[in-house]
Amino acid sequence: MLSNPNRRWVLARHLEGRVAASDFDWRESSVIAPKDGEMLLRNLWLSVDPTQVLHANGETGPLSTAIGEAMHCTAASRVVESRIPGFEPGDLVQGWSGWEDYTTVARGGEGPGAFPVQKVPPGTPLNLALGTYGATGMAAYFGVVDVGRPRAGETFVVDSAAGGVGSVAGQIARILGCRVIGIASGSERRDWLVRDLRFDGAIDLRTEDLEERLTALCPEGIDIFFLNSGRSSVLDVALARLRRLGRVVLCGGTSYYLAKEAPPGLKNLLSLIMSRGRMEGVLHWEYDQRFGEAREAIGGWIRSGQLVSPEDVLVGLEHAPEALARVFQGANRGKQLVKIADR
Ligand SMILES: NC(=O)c1ccc[n+]([C@@H]2O[C@H](COP(=O)([O-])OP(=O)(O)OC[C@H]3O[C@@H](n4cnc5c(N)ncnc54)[C@H](OP(=O)(O)O)[C@@H]3O)[C@@H](O)[C@H]2O)c1
Repeated sequence: MLSNPNRRWVLARHLEGRVAASDFDWRESSVIAPKDGEMLLRNLWLSVDPTQVLHANGETGPLSTAIGEAMHCTAASRVVESRIPGFEPGDLVQGWSGWEDYTTVARGGEGPGAFPVQKVPPGTPLNLALGTYGATGMAAYFGVVDVGRPRAGETFVVDSAAGGVGSVAGQIARILGCRVIGIASGSERRDWLVRDLRFDGAIDLRTEDLEERLTALCPEGIDIFFLNSGRSSVLDVALARLRRLGRVVLCGGTSYYLAKEAPPGLKNLLSLIMSRGRMEGVLHWEYDQRFGEAREAIGGWIRSGQLVSPEDVLVGLEHAPEALARVFQGANRGKQLVKIADR
């Protein structure tokens, strides 16, 4: 058995409207050998997702993290020891895991340890497997292509545009011929969207008047609005500018995840009727049969230099709480990841 300690961040308390390092305790324990039907994983990269706070607050049923348990997340890992047929030591896998060096996962049954773990497609870098080729990229691709259904020349507006999904969704819409406007907190992130991701325009939610700037940047109105933040105040401003047969893609509700109260309702719902608009959600996992199509398209765009895969990487397991706090501070540029080991 491994003599290395298993370093872990365990949940110390439920999160009270914000994420702080003091919500987690650092522990070291020994690595436990897997039993029949289990395998031991060495975690290499951790995905940092806003929905993790729902696990921490017990709002995701069997996926919730119990107090004293290593914080749940998805990760890319190497199999150290396997007692599951079809998985061998050295295989690279992605799936359910935790904020720790080593995780034991089980196949089948109930509970977090039984969450599906899949092999990483051969040749796929682990950071991309968790990001642009993972849930982040799949939500962006199917949200834009299938739900948004863009046509060349249309105006596409995306919020949380500097985040993981938003930064990819905006680029895909640009590649498909749209004029793309991003909304993001912070002037540096706003400027980054235009300079590095080649958006046609961007708005800083912290210092600019959203209504004024959207009117200036979208004088003809909005054909497609892609919502990540769930902010009803932002959605309302977009609805008021929706063009005839406009589409609203509902992808995320980050503002709900730590909120104690439901956000205020919409004022401009009638705009959806008057524009004969369509508002529709996207769930990336419902497209799993078409992930190959999305990865092929995204891979082609990356290779041709049309799409960059923005990542915000903190190195070291000790930074996991800080990484989760960053996404709730609107500090991340692109997909937030934590790299904890090379191999
Ligand atoms: N439907 C699906 O299949 C699917 C798949 C993956 C992710 N998602 C969802 O899509 C959204 C984006 O995911 P992501 O992984 O790319 O995360 P992300 O956008 O990188 O998340 C961080 C961003 O959320 C915004 N934010 C932080 N605190 C907030 C708050 N209290 N209220 C509103 N916005 C806040 C900040 O951007 P700004 O302040 O600049 O807006 C921050 O940069 C999330 O809601 C996620 O759960 C959905």
